[in-house]
Amino acid sequence: MLTPTNELLQTAQTNGYAIGAFNVYNLEGALAVVAAAEAERSPAMLQIHPGALKHGGAALVALCLKAAEEAAVPMAVHLDHCADPEVIRSALAAGLTSIMADGSHLDYEENVVFTRAMVERVHTVGGVVEAELGRLAGTEDDLTVAEYESRLTDPVKAVDFVTRTGVDMLAVCIGNVHGRYPHPPQFDFERLQAIRDAVPLPLVLHGTSGVPNDMVRRCIELGVCKFNVNTEVRQAYIGTLRGELAGNSKVDIVPLMQAGMVAMQAVVADKLRLFGSMGRVRR
Ligand code: G3H
Ligand code: ZN
Repeated sequence: MLTPTNELLQTAQTNGYAIGAFNVYNLEGALAVVAAAEAERSPAMLQIHPGALKHGGAALVALCLKAAEEAAVPMAVHLDHCADPEVIRSALAAGLTSIMADGSHLDYEENVVFTRAMVERVHTVGGVVEAELGRLAGTEDDLTVAEYESRLTDPVKAVDFVTRTGVDMLAVCIGNVHGRYPHPPQFDFERLQAIRDAVPLPLVLHGTSGVPNDMVRRCIELGVCKFNVNTEVRQAYIGTLRGELAGNSKVDIVPLMQAGMVAMQAVVADKLRLFGSMGRVRR
């Protein structure tokens, strides 16, 4: 059933587990997340990156909202990493009420001004806003941030940021990276602890693909209750299609889509178990 993001995150935070938020680009992705969540009796989130929104438009939003409505488990739908007020306006108009207003590319004061304006707009329609303080390195869709441009979240600034903007959840930068990790992930857990102690909001970790399970569990202990996952799911889909198509001239479209969906569903199910959200929905 379509469920508000803040409801999912507050329940997760209270009960010491986390919600998986999975980027989807098409029908197979949305159905894979729903199927995995239902099989694991777990809440989850579908999220749409602006690159996917540019491709799928309001139809992709409608597809995700419908898939979430029909899901037998609580499911939220979220706009990921959006820096454009016009795209946020159109996403709200399309029915989304959970928005990441991403001003992390701006300097601090500009990020505060942008984020506060988006919070006022989204709160007007009863929605919730995620924002990022600091900046992840790495690549996701058409956005690449070089290592030297990335910035870790400052716990002291985080208090000022959430107070002045009114955001509902905070994405942190503690060494996490979008896409493939160029070297084994190293997180600044002391920094995460300090952010947790300073900021009472649900904390979000981006760049979850490739993060070792023990580090994910440590993040949950330190207050992360939303994990964004994209690369591992996308790679499962692309890899499966590549394998199915290689040397098999007879493969037809529905079996091909189903193979891609099953591959994504397996990755999502693994993550839901890791995040501790499996079995949280009573039959
Ligand atoms: O916003 C989406 C996530 O941060 C994706 O990160 O591709 O490293 O899993 P990932
Ligand atoms: Zn992200």
